Amino acid sequence: MTTTVAKPDLRPANPNFSSGPCAKRPGWTPECLADAPLGRSHRAKIGKTKLEQAIALTREVLEVPADYRIGIVPASDTGAVEMALWSLLGERGVDMVAWESFGSGWVTDVVKQLKLADVRTIEAGYGKLPDLTKIDFDRDVVFTWNGTTSGVRVPSGDFIPADRKGLTICDATSAAFAQRLDFAKLDVVTFSWQKALGGEGAHGMLILSPRAVARLESYKPAWPLPKIFRLTSGGKLIEGIFKGETINTPSMLCVEDYLDALKWAKAIGGLDALVDRADANFAVLDRFTAKSGWLANLAVDPATRSNTSVCLTIVDPDVTALDKDGQAAFAKGFVSALEKEGVAYDIGAYRDAPPGLRIWCGATVETSDLEALLPWLDWAFAQQKATLKAAA
Ligand SMILES: Cc1ncc(COP(=O)(O)O)c(C=O)c1O
Repeated sequence: MTTTVAKPDLRPANPNFSSGPCAKRPGWTPECLADAPLGRSHRAKIGKTKLEQAIALTREVLEVPADYRIGIVPASDTGAVEMALWSLLGERGVDMVAWESFGSGWVTDVVKQLKLADVRTIEAGYGKLPDLTKIDFDRDVVFTWNGTTSGVRVPSGDFIPADRKGLTICDATSAAFAQRLDFAKLDVVTFSWQKALGGEGAHGMLILSPRAVARLESYKPAWPLPKIFRLTSGGKLIEGIFKGETINTPSMLCVEDYLDALKWAKAIGGLDALVDRADANFAVLDRFTAKSGWLANLAVDPATRSNTSVCLTIVDPDVTALDKDGQAAFAKGFVSALEKEGVAYDIGAYRDAPPGLRIWCGATVETSDLEALLPWLDWAFAQQKATLKAAA
């Protein structure tokens, strides 16, 4: 690898490669929000209709089965996952499956906050999936479809039996709208608007299978539930939540933005088109990685490599010879050089993950922008390497 790489001429038209909030959809402008019913009640017909539309379009674009409930809930994906954990767990033992920071966060919640007696944790470190054959689906199971901070995803829902006795609770926030979720195998699916469709933070989606609803109506947790988590009343599901009667007040500006994103998704061809765009973006980055000689995908098994939150490590021997702090400093210098040039924002690895890069490849990212970024990666690497040599 030469240390004299000329500064590229072309810059990405959109330098937003963050893994959340993610890039807005191509063509987005604030004018897209002009139809938001601002200053009106979300319970008025105009607001309620928007919320109902958001639910209906979510079902259509994500291809959610007709008998699954879809609700808009507070506190983004975290809110949706917490509602599920606190409302459903405790009826039987639970297997917590985690392989990166967010999954580990759910383990902490269940072990240290809910303090459930019968918990098994099935874990793997960054870059790997745990042994999924160890999961006992007669128990409840909590897992993340796509680990955003390691770029490792489950390849499919094939590891989940159709005739399970427990519930599967899946944090799908960085998978939804980019990877096909096997709804028949999932009892709870959560995601937030700020991820793959480039929406805004603060609102989460909670999707429940009929079996999850049956659990809610037959089991009452031993602990108190704050109003913000409550999905039942008098032992019955609060159906209104799944018809746009939100628990508390949503931002109608964010709702309008989500509707805009969903309409764009539908117009370009729905879920197939979204998955294809993310796959095409990933392929571009993956080809570059394979040829680079200095980058590698953190996900060891190619079948588990994310097409959204692509995590890359710097494998150049001069860099791997550094200690962890040295590697982190190298990656930090790399990322800030690109930020200063205005060619890539927010592409550093997550704070708890191994040092490196994380480049979002979801459907709202244009392939041409990713292609324009690639020569800059070589440029930044050469710059950093020259700095390293000069300091040696
Ligand atoms: C897998 C996963 N779970 C949960 C979260 C938290 O999402 P939010 O901030 O939308 O609540 C994130 C955010 O990146 C995530 O990637």
